[in-house]
Amino acid sequence: MKPPLRTPFCERILYGADYNPDQWLHDPAVLRADIELMKRVKATSASVGIFAWTALEPEPGVFTFDWLDATMDRFAEAGLVVFLATPSGSKPMWLSERHPEVRRVGRDGRRDSSGGRHNHCPTSPVYRAAVSRINRELARRYGRHPALALWHVGNELNGECHCPACKTAFHDWLRQRHGDLASLNHAWCTSFWNHTFTDWSQIPTHDPSIDALAVDWLRFVNDQHISFLKNEIAPLREFSPAVPCTTNFMGTCRGTDYWRWAGVLDRISNDIYPLHADREDSWQKSLDADFTHSLMRGLAGGSSWMLMECAPSSVNWSSVNKLKRPGVHLQEVLQAVANGADAIHYFQWRKSRGGYEKFHGAVVDHEGGAGSRVFRECAEVGRVLRSLAPVAGQPLGRAPVALVYDWEARWALEASAGPKKSPSGDRHTEACMEHFRALRRAGVEVDIVPVDADLSGYSVVVTPALFALDGPTAKRLSDFAAAGGAWIATYLTGYVDEHNRCWRGGFPGPGLREVFGLWNEEVDYLHDDESVRIEGACIDLPGHACGRDIVERLHTEGARVLATVESEFYAGAPIILRNQWRLGSATYVGARLDDESCAALYASIAAELDLPRAKLPAGVVRKVRAGADGPVEFLFNYTRNAVTVDLGEDAFLRVADGRPCRGKTTLRPYDSLVKGVVLSPTPSQPPVPPRHELHPSPLLG
Ligand code: GLA
Ligand code: ZN
Repeated sequence: MKPPLRTPFCERILYGADYNPDQWLHDPAVLRADIELMKRVKATSASVGIFAWTALEPEPGVFTFDWLDATMDRFAEAGLVVFLATPSGSKPMWLSERHPEVRRVGRDGRRDSSGGRHNHCPTSPVYRAAVSRINRELARRYGRHPALALWHVGNELNGECHCPACKTAFHDWLRQRHGDLASLNHAWCTSFWNHTFTDWSQIPTHDPSIDALAVDWLRFVNDQHISFLKNEIAPLREFSPAVPCTTNFMGTCRGTDYWRWAGVLDRISNDIYPLHADREDSWQKSLDADFTHSLMRGLAGGSSWMLMECAPSSVNWSSVNKLKRPGVHLQEVLQAVANGADAIHYFQWRKSRGGYEKFHGAVVDHEGGAGSRVFRECAEVGRVLRSLAPVAGQPLGRAPVALVYDWEARWALEASAGPKKSPSGDRHTEACMEHFRALRRAGVEVDIVPVDADLSGYSVVVTPALFALDGPTAKRLSDFAAAGGAWIATYLTGYVDEHNRCWRGGFPGPGLREVFGLWNEEVDYLHDDESVRIEGACIDLPGHACGRDIVERLHTEGARVLATVESEFYAGAPIILRNQWRLGSATYVGARLDDESCAALYASIAAELDLPRAKLPAGVVRKVRAGADGPVEFLFNYTRNAVTVDLGEDAFLRVADGRPCRGKTTLRPYDSLVKGVVLSPTPSQPPVPPRHELHPSPLLG
């Protein structure tokens, strides 16, 4: 559990955006207008100074804080708070020039130019010292400023550096982990293709033919980021111990095992940009956003978390940058709140005039005022978020089902030629998201937990594609089943150990062949347009149930066969099996099921185990969050179609217009309903008057 929340976190849902006054210092009218416009959207906060290092320190050791002093004061006067950023996400030119070693080196050995961002060497002592110095100055100056609510440390810290300093640090890290070279060679199976190392210095940072190296490298990279983060945070804690620190995560970002980062931070925050295609099946994307939100809830240890960046309209970096359809944006925001977010921040407050992101969605457009459709939508969101204040800071409930997401299993799978083949390139995340979606489609609530989580209190644990696992982990999960829990594992479970070496004695290992009562002899990878027919033996699956992409050839060794494959040369083979294991059960799903069949499987498991379940049409989702005066319930239509649901006698409010609905109700496309809060009335929308009538400043428009 994170430390208890302080004001303003527990008073209301915080609402704001990344804000770059440093881009507008030449135009004070813009800066004044910003505060007025923020008040109009009912913003509470802004993340300031994320890429402002040179504006703060134009030369080494020379600091220009006047503009930030003024910004902090303006915020305090307006009753707004600041998430003050440390500027490490982008290096000053003077630093890159004087100390090229702060610049990242790619796998090809080439050092980055000074451009771009998020490209520092995480090991470089020079960079760490420079970051520590600017952070210390910021903390000393603003650590007790009344506007300061949170430290926003760096920005989307991630990526790899292959420079000599990182390579040496990697070798030291390997010495710590493996002790001596003989042990490393054994653990990494380096006799394969004559890769035996006879000196530490020979070990490269990248060699795709050494599958164990790839996993240890990512473990090392992850550790470097964590120690970089600790270095950033130390001066902030020294000068402002009561101000919480966060850094903005990127969901299931590849090289960052956020389970290990979470302990370093006071608040968990995340950036998410779901791309709504507005197609027949794009509602599943909303379930994927639910997955990411649930992961954040897990990382926060069951506390609320912060949505640090989302787009108020379209992004500019996707191949198709569609505008959000009416209702989508409000729904995305409410969806995050329903899933435990206590802050909603945008990238970005105001569109820059130039630079790479000048066409990225923002609350304030180049037009500059309050008259745009997006601005009005953001003001509407601000109004609704005020009404949701009762949920802020309230503890989040626990689901009956835990789903394990494991970065290390992902890395091992990704580094293993053969099973790694997948349309998304990331089979572990794909499997976790699919099983999460299926559980949610079956109306079952899910927590996302790390592989070493305390599982007591859960009825079911689901471990999709847990490709790598060591003996103690296998034992802990087996013990969960032995004590009466239901463990559900899928294809690609228990193939390798912590060094990415295959378990001997038949998959799933280690010892899991007995627990699941089956042997996974081999695995068939299908073409994208192929599938195998699957038939339920003791469970109800849809008539068209199929396995696609990946199908294991399983043999029962005592497990009850729940479903079989009914095509291909292995027709008749078991594909879903359940074994009684002591007081509980272990179920194995040996193929990548189609979404509907996977949901049907979980519906039958939920019925058998009598799990609480919302029975709603496909694409309609219910979430409940505790509020200060009782539960607050949300109902979302994630689809682009109207859907009719029976709300019974319960009176919900349609968030878009505040109208009550009960009984048989037709949800509009992307509709959101809420119950348990009082929505402040929607101001009637007057037509936008000509700019000059609105405000003395033309910028307010
Ligand atoms: C990331 C970054 C932001 C911005 C957005 C654009 O999340 O943190 O600075 O570039 O992407 O979507
Ligand atoms: Zn480096």
